[in-house]
Amino acid sequence: MSITELVAAAAWAPSSHNTQPWRWTVSADEARLDLYADRSRALPVNDPRGRELVISCGAALFALRVAAAYAGRGAIVEPFPDGDTDDTDHLATVHLAGPLGREAGLYDALAARRTHHGPFQRAAVDPGTLKDLMAAAEAEGAYLHVMDALQRNAVAGLVGEADHVLWCDRGWRRELARWFRTRHGGDGLPVSLASLVPTRFVVAHLDLGRRLGTTDARLVAEAPAVVVLATPEDEPGDWLRAGQALERVLLTATCAGLSAGFENQPCEASPALRARLGAVVHGHVPQIVARLGPAAPTRPTPRRPVAVTAGRGAPVPR
Ligand SMILES: Cc1cc2nc3c(=O)[nH]c(=O)nc-3n(C[C@H](O)[C@H](O)[C@H](O)COP(=O)(O)O)c2cc1C
Repeated sequence: MSITELVAAAAWAPSSHNTQPWRWTVSADEARLDLYADRSRALPVNDPRGRELVISCGAALFALRVAAAYAGRGAIVEPFPDGDTDDTDHLATVHLAGPLGREAGLYDALAARRTHHGPFQRAAVDPGTLKDLMAAAEAEGAYLHVMDALQRNAVAGLVGEADHVLWCDRGWRRELARWFRTRHGGDGLPVSLASLVPTRFVVAHLDLGRRLGTTDARLVAEAPAVVVLATPEDEPGDWLRAGQALERVLLTATCAGLSAGFENQPCEASPALRARLGAVVHGHVPQIVARLGPAAPTRPTPRRPVAVTAGRGAPVPR
């Protein structure tokens, strides 16, 4: 598998609003890849600290590890190799060396995984599978909390409240509207050419918080399983680990026949709502809220053409 193919496989990772906010460079001997945050793809209103941006890059990093293992190559990850975690775009160096990881078994799930936006088929999730998902998160230094009935109700209420807060904010709506795109562009939330202008108009101009809050709360309340991915702290290093854990959990779920739908609004809408969610998960810092269940296959969201450039920090051409 070529370096370009490895990076193409990594691009199947999920990202907020499908922004794909990563860029990769490769060393001359092709033994080292460097992962950078592409802040030109940031969501300053939805994600002012770049938390979800780094989580998305972490998901791509885990996907790259899976692809490398499948290609028979080791992958030793050096997080934040410049020693600075706060003010850097240089998120990781991957040395394609060392022992083979056991991630190769997740390779087929990379392109098969989908975010599911609607209700799931009604079916209980096997407790053994939930244990595997918790172990997948722990293997990457994060926690996966599986919500019991009481916690699930609390989360459903927080998701509904968070929808109200987000949709009240015109800046947030405008930012979301800009990421609705046709498939042609290779990124964003795909809509048909005919519905692009009306969708953007409605999202930018109408406060749909009340309606979506009710729908999303019901989706959470009725999902076969609801999980919260959390970390001990809330620093860029935690976000990068959370991203790798997220992708490991999602790929493990895909292998078990489960899709995920994100309900991340309580982590995005306000620090107060996020703190209330934190209380539900025993004081850990919540990073991602997701529903899990079986769903019929859907069309994949688009991805940008792959570009890997030589050397550290060189810009990736579009
Ligand atoms: C950090 C992060 C946050 C996300 N938050 C949401 C969310 O709040 N609501 C949602 O519907 N999808 C959310 N997503 C899913 C993305 O929209 C999805 O990954 C992207 O559109 C690509 O589609 P795919 O996952 O089917 O490949 C999130 C993804 C990531 C990585």
